[in-house]
Amino acid sequence: MSHLSATAQPPGPVLAIESSCDETACAILSPTGACLAQRVVSQDGHADFGGVVPEIAARAHLALLPGLVEATLADAGLSTTDLGFVAASTGPGLIGGLIVGTSFAKGLALALDIPFVAVNHVEAHALTARLPGIVPDGAPFPYLLLLVSGGHCQCIAVDGVGHYRKLGGTIDDAAGEAFDKVAKMLGLGWPGGPALEKLAQQGNPNAIPLPRPLLRRPGCDFSFSGLKTAIAQKLAPFGQAPLPHQFAADLAASFQQAVADVVADRINHALDMMPQARLLVAAGGVAANTALRTRLEEVAQQRGLRFAAPPLKLCTDNAVMVGWAALETWRESAERGLPTPNNTTLRPRPRWPLEDMAQRFEPGLTQA
Ligand code: KG4
Ligand code: ZN
Repeated sequence: MSHLSATAQPPGPVLAIESSCDETACAILSPTGACLAQRVVSQDGHADFGGVVPEIAARAHLALLPGLVEATLADAGLSTTDLGFVAASTGPGLIGGLIVGTSFAKGLALALDIPFVAVNHVEAHALTARLPGIVPDGAPFPYLLLLVSGGHCQCIAVDGVGHYRKLGGTIDDAAGEAFDKVAKMLGLGWPGGPALEKLAQQGNPNAIPLPRPLLRRPGCDFSFSGLKTAIAQKLAPFGQAPLPHQFAADLAASFQQAVADVVADRINHALDMMPQARLLVAAGGVAANTALRTRLEEVAQQRGLRFAAPPLKLCTDNAVMVGWAALETWRESAERGLPTPNNTTLRPRPRWPLEDMAQRFEPGLTQA
C-alpha cells in the first residue's frame, strides 16, 4: 500500500545518496516508495583509528560514489534519464562527506534537468518506519521515536512530516558512542556495537553490578558517561594483562543490560510525556541491538502500544531512508499546494536541528 496519492507522486523514481558519516550508500525508490535497488558500502580505513576520520571518509565517498551510483542504476535496470528526481543527505553530519554526496546529487540533477531534494539525515531515520511494508498501516502520526545511533540519542515526538518535538536527549555521550567506547576498552573491533552484542551473547547480564544513570529521574534525558567510567574501573585491576574471556563477556552483557534498563525507563517517561502516541518506533544504528529491541517491545506491550523497528539494514545508515524522506517531502509539499521541492541552492550543514524542518512547508519561505 502506498502513502503517496497520485497527484503527490513524482514523475519517476528517486535516486538517493547517503554520505553523512562512513557509509557510502545509494538507493533507487519508485514514486510510491518501493525499493528498486540499494547498495551500501561500509568504509574500511577507519578501524585502525578507533573512530571515523572525517578526511578519510570524505575522500572515500568521492572515490566510491560514481561506481556505486552506476551499479545501483544497473541493479534497478534503469538509466539516469528514467529518474524523476535526485535526493541526498545534506546534514547533519560530517561536512566533507555531506559536501561530496550533496554536490554529486546536485550535479546529477542539474545535468538531467530534474529536481534535487535535500534530506535531513535525522529526519530520514525518523520517517523510516513509514516505508511501505514495515508497519501494516504505514505508521500513522503521531508516534514516539527513539533515535539511538553513534551521533544521536533522542526521544522525539513525531507529529507529522516536518513536525518534530525533542522530548529529551543525552546530556553526554550518544548510546552508540557508549557502545563503541566500551567495546574499545574491551579490545573489540570497530564499530563496537555489533562486536559488543556478539560478545554479550556469551555472558551473564547480571554478573557485574553497574550503575543505571538517570534511572527514575523526571523527564527522558539520557546519560552514559558514568556507565563508561564504571566499566573503566572494573577493567583497571587487569592493567595491560589480557582479559579473561568470560569476564569480558559478562562485562559486555552487564553493560548491555544496563543500557537496556535505562533506555526502557527513559522511554516510559517519554511515553508519559506523549500520551497521544499509539506507536513506539526505534531507529538508528543501536536499534539493531536485539536485547534493546526486546526491552522496548516489552515496554510498548505493557502500555498497550505497538512497537516498530525497521529491519536491521534500514536501522543503520542507508540511502533507502533518504529516498523515502524525500518522497514524503514531495508528497507533503504537493498536499499543501506548494511548488515541487528543488533545493539546488541549499548548502550542506553539519548541524541541522529537526525543529527547523517545518520551514520547508511555510508558504513564501524559500530555502537558501
Ligand atoms: O545510525 P548509524 O549507522 O550511524 C550514525 O551514527 O548515524 O549508527 C552507528 C552506531 C555505532 O555507534 C554502532 O556501534 C551502533 O550504531 N550499533 C550498535 C549495533 N549495531 C550498530 N550498537 C549496539 N548493538 C548493535 N547491534
Ligand atoms: Zn544515522
